[in-house]
Amino acid sequence: MRAELLIALLIVPLAVTACGDDDGDGASLPTVDCTPPVPTFAEVRAFRSNCINCHSIQLTDNSRQGAPVGMDYDVYASAAAVAEATARTVYEGSMPPSGGLFPADKDVLYRWSLCGAPP
Ligand code: HEC
Repeated sequence: MRAELLIALLIVPLAVTACGDDDGDGASLPTVDCTPPVPTFAEVRAFRSNCINCHSIQLTDNSRQGAPVGMDYDVYASAAAVAEATARTVYEGSMPPSGGLFPADKDVLYRWSLCGAPP
């Protein structure tokens, strides 16, 4: 009995920790502090400085440089729809393709993306 209880006490926190870093498909997400105030969409500077040169509703065809049509970081609903993928790609370093985000800008992007993506 005591051994079973001990095992349960050890396993539960491990499972909870795994949920925080992993959404189940093997993708990694940063750990964020969602204490208010969470940044608003307009406050995510990185979208304007590092994303909309490809992911913009203003851009069509080749000017998107391959960025999926309809995935635009100058349109709130579009960005909010891919909030988790936004944090994941930046955290993993695949977006923006050239890298180079300032750490402070990344932090704001992560908190917006993973704390409810407020408008
Ligand atoms: C130079 C052009 C370019 C810039 C700048 C760029 N992207 Fe992308 N993005 C792409 C291309 C091309 C794809 C589709 C191919 C791919 O998935 O790698 C893509 C796909 C994506 C995807 C979907 C891929 C997935 O794995 O879910 C997300 C999310 C994304 N970009 C986020 C961002 C964010 C956030 C920024 C800014 C921090 C950004 N991108 C900047 C070109 C760009």
